[in-house]
Amino acid sequence: MTIGLDDVVAAETSLSHVDGEAGRLIIAGHDLKELAGRVAFEDAVAMLWRGLVPDAGDPRAVLGKARERAYGYLAPLSPQLAGLTPIEGMRLLLASLPDADEDHPALAVGAAGVAAAMAVRGAQGLAPVAPDASLGHAADILHMMRAAPVEATEVLGLDTYLVTVIDHGLNASTFAARVVASTQAGILSSVVAGLCALKGPLHGGAPGPVLDMLDAIGSIDHAEAWLDDAMSRGERLMGFGHRIYKVRDPRADVLMAAVGRLKGKSNRIAFAEAVEATALKVLERRKPGRRLDTNVEFYTAILLDSLSVPREGFTPLFAAGRTAGWVAHAIEQTRTGRIIRPQSRYVGAWPAQAA
Ligand code: ACO
Repeated sequence: MTIGLDDVVAAETSLSHVDGEAGRLIIAGHDLKELAGRVAFEDAVAMLWRGLVPDAGDPRAVLGKARERAYGYLAPLSPQLAGLTPIEGMRLLLASLPDADEDHPALAVGAAGVAAAMAVRGAQGLAPVAPDASLGHAADILHMMRAAPVEATEVLGLDTYLVTVIDHGLNASTFAARVVASTQAGILSSVVAGLCALKGPLHGGAPGPVLDMLDAIGSIDHAEAWLDDAMSRGERLMGFGHRIYKVRDPRADVLMAAVGRLKGKSNRIAFAEAVEATALKVLERRKPGRRLDTNVEFYTAILLDSLSVPREGFTPLFAAGRTAGWVAHAIEQTRTGRIIRPQSRYVGAWPAQAA
């Protein structure tokens, strides 16, 4: 029996494959590097959903309409966002969607984008901004989050991010979504389950610490001494190392390229590149042979910070991208017609034997 399900195959999927030894992520039959920065998020969604969701025409128009429909449901709830963190606000908003809406797949993804933007604004006490269905999904999220003009390079940056995180094998949130889907509870409930699993700090809730680390280092002159001191205290360097990837996380490469295209947007980018190089040197010196490399979180933090997303908004944006994967997995799981129902080993007390 494997406690925690390490190495257990719990589902078959055609959606994505993670090869931790080769540093390869395949999404719907394509290497991540063929997709990220090259196709718009809505086109990646269409690829992922092929054969699972009926083709409803131009994916950009479908998601634009879905955002408008979602806003109709969600906007009245904006007063309730005061006092909530963005991820709590997003949970409240997505949980409010009605099962009776007839187009769950598009609605879920449209709503996730709207909810992420609304929740980030709501946490700052700002009123929501209505979606513009004529924009692409990434552009509209930035527009709804900022209520200010957005540059094309910024749209490309967020598009690249959303595609990069669209799916990643049977991670904890995807598994949670599949468990709920297996009970035939529906797509929207599966997405809410995925969101609840994602928000934990061991999964998608921890990208902020990379920025905290960079803030603490302060300047590149202090980097090596600061990182050495952190290692001496037994601390982990944030944004480095990965349980599955034993080589560089391929998502780090595509996000680094996306950050590179934004050069000049943030002083933090050049600083982060210098800290990364120093951290890899320190890790190799202090942990020789452990194969510790840069993971997805390092450049996620730099990229989203460069797009002026507050750090509490990083996880909601992760969820906005991953919702497309949760939806696809929910449909794939529902089609099996089989409930996921593992067993536990009882280690509690037994009733006293009858005399
Ligand atoms: N900094 C310093 N040392 C590290 C780091 C790190 N970031 N990561 C691992 N190590 C060391 C460990 O201390 C251990 O050393 P030891 O063999 O001398 O005891 C060795 O490398 C192997 O570490 P494990 O504990 O086996 O690695 P594990 O697979 O359990 O952990 C994890 C993976 C949690 C990602 C870890 O690398 C870590 O904590 N990284 C920092 C936090 C982070 O960036 N998290 C985001 C990960 S990406 C994602 O989950 C989406």
